[in-house]
Amino acid sequence: PNPERDRLLQAYEWTAKFYHFLLKNTEHGKAAMEYLRSRGFNDKVIDQFQIGFAPDRWDTLVQFLTKREFDLSEMEKGGLLSKRHESDDFLDRFRGRVIFPIHDRNGKIIAFAGRILGEGQPKYLNSPESKLFNKSRILYNLHQAKASIRKLRQIVLFEGYGDVISAWEAGVQNGVATMGTSLTESHAALMKTMADEIVICYDGDRAGQAAVMKAISLLEGVGLSVRVSVLIEGLDPDEFIQKYGADRFKRQMIDGAVSTTKFKLIYLKKNHILLEEDGKIAYTKEVLPIIAALPSSTEREVYLRELASELQLSFESLKQDCNEIRQSMQKNM
Ligand code: UTP
Ligand code: MN
Ligand code: MN
Ligand code: MN
Ligand code: MN
Repeated sequence: PNPERDRLLQAYEWTAKFYHFLLKNTEHGKAAMEYLRSRGFNDKVIDQFQIGFAPDRWDTLVQFLTKREFDLSEMEKGGLLSKRHESDDFLDRFRGRVIFPIHDRNGKIIAFAGRILGEGQPKYLNSPESKLFNKSRILYNLHQAKASIRKLRQIVLFEGYGDVISAWEAGVQNGVATMGTSLTESHAALMKTMADEIVICYDGDRAGQAAVMKAISLLEGVGLSVRVSVLIEGLDPDEFIQKYGADRFKRQMIDGAVSTTKFKLIYLKKNHILLEEDGKIAYTKEVLPIIAALPSSTEREVYLRELASELQLSFESLKQDCNEIRQSMQKNM
C-alpha cells in the first residue's frame, strides 16, 4: 500500500473532472471550446478523451484542491502545482491550456498534457516525469485502445494526442501515441505482448520520417511485423484526416501502409538526385544492402525489379551486386 500515491491518483482524477467541467460549462472554457471545435474535435470525443481546460489564473486548482483537503506540497511534488518563486505559496502549474489527461493502461490518470491555445512555447506542457509517469513506458490511449488491439492483433502508432483522437473519431480505435518521437525498447516490448503488427503513422515532416527509421529497427528487433504510413505534403495524421477525411485516411494510410523495405527505399531516395549518375550509384549502394538482407529470394526479386525499372538499370546487374553483398554479409555472420 502506498497512501501518498493513492492520494495523488485521487487528486488527478478529481482535477481531470474539474478541468473537463470548466471546459464544457463555464465562461472560462469558451475560447478553449472554440479552439477545439476549430480543430474538428466534437463533443463526443471531448468527453471520450476527458479533455479539459485550465483557466489562465494562478489559483483555480489551488483553491479546488484546498477545499478538498489535499496537501498542497504533496500536490506540488506530484506535478499538479508549482511553487511561487522564493516563497512558500503554491500556484497552478497549468494555466490557460487545454488539458489532455494521460492514463496508464488500466485507465488511471497519471499525468496531464496542457496545450497552449494557438501559437506559443512550449506547445505542450506535460506533468513532470515521476515513478507514476514515465514517458518511456507510457503509451497514450492504451487503456481505451487495448480492446481493439487485442481483437485486431494490430497497433497503429502515432506521435501525438491529436493524431490518436482524430483517428479514433475516424474509426481507428487501436491507435496509441508515444507523445513525441522517442519510441523506447520498453514501448516495443509492451506492444509485443498485445499485438503482432504495428502500423507506424508518424508525422510527414522530416523529424517524423527520421524517427520512423529508428522505430522500425526497435519494433522489428522484438519480433513485431511492421508497416509504415507515408504521409504526404508534410502533414501529420490529424491534419490528413481533417483535410482528406476518414475514409481516405483508412484506405490510404492504414490499409495502404507500405512494407518497411519500401519505406526505406522511399526515405533514402530523398537524399539523392537520381537523374545524375553519381546519385544513382550512391542510392543503389545505400539500398542494395537493405534488399540483400531480406531472407526471401522472392522478396529480393520484387524490390530489385522495382529498383531496376525506376533507375533504368538491368535487373541482372543489380541482382549480381545484391548477391555479392549477400555473400559477404553471410561470411561476416
Ligand atoms: P508535434 O509537434 O507533432 O505536435 O508533437 P502535435 O501532436 O501535432 O500537436 P498539435 O496538433 O499542434 O496540437 C508530437 C507530440 O510530441 C509531444 C506531444 O505528445 C505531441 O502530441 N510534444 C510536442 C510535447 O510533449 N511537447 C511539445 O512541446 C511538443
Ligand atoms: Mn463529459
Ligand atoms: Mn511531429
Ligand atoms: Mn504532429
Ligand atoms: Mn498535429
